[in-house]
Amino acid sequence: VDKFPGYVRNENFKELTENDVAYFKSIVGENGLIYGNEDDLFAFNTDWMNKFRGKSQLVLKPKTTQQVSDILKYCNEQKLAVVPQGGNTGLVGGSVPVFDEVVLNLQGMNKIRGFDSVSGILTADAGCVLEVLDNWLAEKGYMMPLDLGAKGSCHIGGNIATNAGGLRLLRYGSLHGTVLGLEVVLPDGTILDNMSTLRKDNTGYDLKQLFIGSEGTIGVITGVSILTPHRSKAVNVALLGLESFEDVQKAFKQSRIELSEILSAFEFWDINALQMFKKHATPKEVMQSEYPFYVLIETSGSNKDHDDEKLNTYLENMMEDGVAQDGVVAQDESQIRNLWSLREGFTEALGKEPAVYKYDISMPVPKIYECVEDMRQHLKDGGVFGQEDSPVTDVVAYGHVGDGNLHLNIAAKRLDKKTSSLIEPYLFEWVSKHQGSISAEHGLGVAKNEFLGYSKSPVMIQLMKSMKSILDPNGILNPYKYLPSS
Ligand code: FAD
Ligand code: MLT
Ligand code: ZN
Repeated sequence: VDKFPGYVRNENFKELTENDVAYFKSIVGENGLIYGNEDDLFAFNTDWMNKFRGKSQLVLKPKTTQQVSDILKYCNEQKLAVVPQGGNTGLVGGSVPVFDEVVLNLQGMNKIRGFDSVSGILTADAGCVLEVLDNWLAEKGYMMPLDLGAKGSCHIGGNIATNAGGLRLLRYGSLHGTVLGLEVVLPDGTILDNMSTLRKDNTGYDLKQLFIGSEGTIGVITGVSILTPHRSKAVNVALLGLESFEDVQKAFKQSRIELSEILSAFEFWDINALQMFKKHATPKEVMQSEYPFYVLIETSGSNKDHDDEKLNTYLENMMEDGVAQDGVVAQDESQIRNLWSLREGFTEALGKEPAVYKYDISMPVPKIYECVEDMRQHLKDGGVFGQEDSPVTDVVAYGHVGDGNLHLNIAAKRLDKKTSSLIEPYLFEWVSKHQGSISAEHGLGVAKNEFLGYSKSPVMIQLMKSMKSILDPNGILNPYKYLPSS
């Protein structure tokens, strides 16, 4: 299967030679690379969704920032294209080569550099796995300020490169706020040491911000300084069953008033998402009856009695006012985990479908479900959904309500041209018309780069292209991605 239809290799890039491999061996050693063996290279060439696959012959696994610098300096001089790679859990095809780019995988850079237990500032190598960092911090009474379903595999460097949002952005904010400093190797090998551990620093342009969400196109992140919050002593998770998205919004609005400072997550999904989960796994702790919508609420605070009382009052009010039809509160750690596994399990369940058109969009909260219903109707009108033999089998919605972020997933029997041309650019036009973004948190990669114009003006895109050419004049870093080709 051609995983990159229509792409043409940039002939300015050199093809890898045995001499290059020998040089890389002198930098990372025999064990620091994988060369030539298709089977060993497969996992590095293929993305998490098995939608995109490149043909790299070489994976490099540096262990130090200096090695990354030596590698990039050489690649830049030789015009060898490079794709930076973290845990390879990205959902837009950004982490795998398109053609024969050298894969620069950061998994060997996995050391914690330091932790200040007064301020909660952690410094670490970019290849540290998010969950490993979170478990390490747990012992010190702290936690990572972000959490996502891919935590067991994704790297903190990959999270920052994609500006990942996740399940608690509502409470702890975006990485643009929590990242205090970065160490980045620029495409020519220059090491940019901006590992600040300061909360406040108004001296010059805030260069680190440029690399947050830059998806490996202008530098390789090798070190991270990040502000971590205290781990809450009291955590509650509740599940609500609701009749309409109108009610989901009422529940959200009221949660901000009644749960205010202890609210740490407010997630929603529809019945289609639950059914998709049930098709591929057995959920625990779900309600007896089914509802069109579900909301998962998490509270985190320092006083269990206080939090329990607030949450119970809120739930009673939601039931009495007829906003929620049903509500359960997890009674222990394992029930909390089960509820979160359900929420985090939709991605994997959808991954087991024959094909999925995956979208990650943001817009004003009241528009979120209108978008889903409109898409269902549009696909029916287009003749690809609603009949036994239709290629589209379901339209599934879930997301981070608190962030105005909808994950719209269109499950299908196969990927076909008619369906994809019905979805794109229709969906992006819809999003643009409602002042939304075509990518809320997953990024652009190769899946959305050509549609950037629906979210950013020509002037902004031109400035982005100028920045790319200043920082990476030979265009060796993650080519064919992120910015539109024309
Ligand atoms: P990769 O996938 O390896 O790379 C992603 C991009 O970053 C690529 O363009 C790559 O070139 C670049 N990159 C990686 N490391 C570096 C580096 N050190 N320096 C420079 N560039 C680099 N995303 C969300 O925002 N919120 C979610 O809730 C969420 N949930 C997910 C759940 C599941 C089950 C899965 C599979 C994915 C989910 N994602 C989510 C997608 C998401 O982008 C990531 O999982 C994560 O941030 C990517 O990290 P990674 O280390 O796997 O990066
Ligand atoms: C999520 O919120 O579950 C993630 O962003 C992944 C997805 O959209 O499937
Ligand atoms: Zn998400």
